[in-house]
Amino acid sequence: MTHSGEQSIDPLLDLDYRVRLSSGSDLGIAIVGCGGIVNYAHLPAYTAHDLNIVGCFDLNPEVAQRTAADFNIPRVYESVEEVANDPDVVIVDVAVPPWEQLNVARKLIAAGKHLLCQKPLSNVFGEAVQIVDAAEDAGVLLAVNQQFRWSPLIKASKTLIDKGWIGQPTEVSIQESMLSPWHLWPWLAKSPQLEIMYHSIHYLDGLRYLFGDPEWVTSRHTRYPGEDRVAGETKTITVLDYEDGLQALVAVNHSNHSDDIYGLVRFLGTEGVITGTMGLSYDYPDGREDTLEWSGSAHYPEHRFEAKLEGKWIPDAFIGPMASLIDAVRDNGVPPTNGRDNLNTLRMVGAAYLSATENRSVRPEEIG
Ligand SMILES: NC(=O)c1ccc[n+]([C@@H]2O[C@H](COP(=O)([O-])OP(=O)(O)OC[C@H]3O[C@@H](n4cnc5c(N)ncnc54)[C@H](O)[C@@H]3O)[C@@H](O)[C@H]2O)c1
Repeated sequence: MTHSGEQSIDPLLDLDYRVRLSSGSDLGIAIVGCGGIVNYAHLPAYTAHDLNIVGCFDLNPEVAQRTAADFNIPRVYESVEEVANDPDVVIVDVAVPPWEQLNVARKLIAAGKHLLCQKPLSNVFGEAVQIVDAAEDAGVLLAVNQQFRWSPLIKASKTLIDKGWIGQPTEVSIQESMLSPWHLWPWLAKSPQLEIMYHSIHYLDGLRYLFGDPEWVTSRHTRYPGEDRVAGETKTITVLDYEDGLQALVAVNHSNHSDDIYGLVRFLGTEGVITGTMGLSYDYPDGREDTLEWSGSAHYPEHRFEAKLEGKWIPDAFIGPMASLIDAVRDNGVPPTNGRDNLNTLRMVGAAYLSATENRSVRPEEIG
């Protein structure tokens, strides 16, 4: 049976995966860091939703000028201080390498700006804690750009899981094998921590979103033979053990030179199963649409459903974290990927590295 989520009458079949901006979009937003991800993901998503981008800044003025010209951004700032002092700016979208984020964030938080920071919030756990504490002390909102949660596949899967399609989750896997374009991030080439810190962090955060925090993290890291483009780990297998017996596997290889590329998810429960493909795995950063199939004994037991999901992780999911921050600013709320929550995602990242280094299973609370 084929199914298009938006046309369905039966609420059980409504996948409800599109991001809605529930409040107006006129809050002034400034961008700090105008690199690759801002140009091919953040700004295409924000432009599509008519957000009010008032200015941008980059340490490299040419890059900022080019971004401003490409996206009709009225102001190019000469410093972070200038961004901080602009009364038209309510939210700052920070997209700089993680070791720059603490210094940039401090100046903006001190000026009372709400922040959307890029992931990882920091590559050093203690620095991430400093950013979170500073934001809370100043009473400003801090969201982290863990936008995988808003990718069509994950959002739709969350809807199905919440509606009871698979019963109690028992077995989860995210398996990806692709050829990553490391040249897009020259600053990553020498990083000793690579795959989990910059990529699987999305999957760990996504699994937290779907299933909560695990009890144990066990992770093994290695490198593909002959991989000389980067210094850090490029092949990882991580197992998450949950208190109720749920086990999750995240297995990623970034050096697949064959024509058999894949990005597969599988969520099996006591009453059903969801499977899907992550379109982004097949050609980063363009990718293709995600696919989704599911069946369950509790609802329509005779049928297997498949959905053609509209939109892609890049750029469409990038409206999610910003829209949720705008809503939180408007409603005095808390964005779902708020800094305090994100520390638990970083604890899983830290636990994965500790596990690989010490050849043992690690509880996330050991980190920090
Ligand atoms: N969420 C995602 O899916 C995703 C994907 C790619 C990158 N990222 C993250 O986004 C961030 C940027 O990545 P990118 O791919 O755009 O890198 P990039 O190298 O293309 O761009 C980074 C930009 O930041 C600027 N910059 C550096 N320090 C600065 C500072 N102190 N103030 C202002 N500008 C500064 C640089 O001049 C550069 O233009 C990184 O933290 C990365 O981990 C996230």
